[in-house]
Amino acid sequence: MIFIDACNRKETPYTPIWLMRQAGRYLSEYREVRAKVGNFLDLCKNVELATEVTLQPIDILDCDAAILFSDILVIPLEMGLELDFIKNEGPKFQQYIRNNDDLKLLQPMAHKRLDYVYDTISLTRSKLNKEKALIGFCGAPWTLATYMIEGQGSKTYTNSKKMLHTNPKLLHSILERLSDELKMYLELQIKAGVNAVMIFDSWAGALEKNSYFEFGFNYINNIAKYIKSKYPHIPIIAFPKGVGGFLNAFNMIEKNFDVFGIDWGIDIQYAKHTLGEKFVLQGNLEPCRIYDFNAMEQGVDEIVKIMGKKSGHIFNLGHGMLPDLPRENAIKLVQMIKNKTKR
Ligand code: CP3
Repeated sequence: MIFIDACNRKETPYTPIWLMRQAGRYLSEYREVRAKVGNFLDLCKNVELATEVTLQPIDILDCDAAILFSDILVIPLEMGLELDFIKNEGPKFQQYIRNNDDLKLLQPMAHKRLDYVYDTISLTRSKLNKEKALIGFCGAPWTLATYMIEGQGSKTYTNSKKMLHTNPKLLHSILERLSDELKMYLELQIKAGVNAVMIFDSWAGALEKNSYFEFGFNYINNIAKYIKSKYPHIPIIAFPKGVGGFLNAFNMIEKNFDVFGIDWGIDIQYAKHTLGEKFVLQGNLEPCRIYDFNAMEQGVDEIVKIMGKKSGHIFNLGHGMLPDLPRENAIKLVQMIKNKTKR
């Protein structure tokens, strides 16, 4: 699998490419399947339909990896927090964790209630072309904790950061509970058949450097260490979004994962210089460039010029596909990368 080879810094015939949120509303095929079920979570829980939408971008875009169709929030959901996806508003929890007493809301063994995820993985792997990798994923403890504390998405993360400063012990106990679940969750995804795993820390950029290492990244590294010790052949991708201001600090850490996801706000030249020896880099085209073919090609050329045709790079966006991006350009993007990076 060329994606897995690239994660291991082996030579590949071209730079592999997949797109974050490659299964989604910008595809009419996705919208058709989505319309068959009541809400987004019903789609995540429907093994046949979740498999179908996981495979759609492979058929339509011909990218090198499929990513399991699910959501990071199924973990807090199965820990006992009721979740709704409200149209045009995003995810909302009916309960949230703001004090020590609220911890009682959380039920143990969430990873045992996620058979719909593991079944989707097995079915997808059985249908997926052998040359294409299947990526499993989870949210990082910090990002999941922000949803559990705020109860929804946030621009300021006030409640989460208030807890960090006024009751850090409580925040650590939430993060530890999450880490324990996530280790088992990723392990069961691997047993079900994923070829690599990715940890999304979408709201890493909300924290200062030292706080991020204490409350965010340490937990990712710890989960990665556990997975690496048991499954050394499974590549691990970490994606801490918004940490460009202290990228050099990641050079000091113990290395427990293989690939570092670079968001679109980071200068990829700087990322290559700072982290490119230690980690394979994944990223980082600004997704909105896909609105315009020329803007897209210009962004691609800059990245390819810097990252070159040698190993050490996996092409991706710097964050997820947006619902109204033109699919024709997404299709052209994948072909463009394969052509322009051919060895
Ligand atoms: O194609 C893929 O990348 C795989 C599927 C995937 C989804 N969510 C599907 C989804 C993955 C990997 C995620 C991760 C996820 N979910 C993250 C981390 C990555 C990132 O974007 O930073 C986060 C923060 C979430 C939480 C979440 N889920 C939000 C904020 C929303 C609402 C935003 C929106 O686009 O509506 C979701 C819903 C969601 N997750 C959708 C999809 C396809 C849209 C649901 C729909 O079809 O109505």
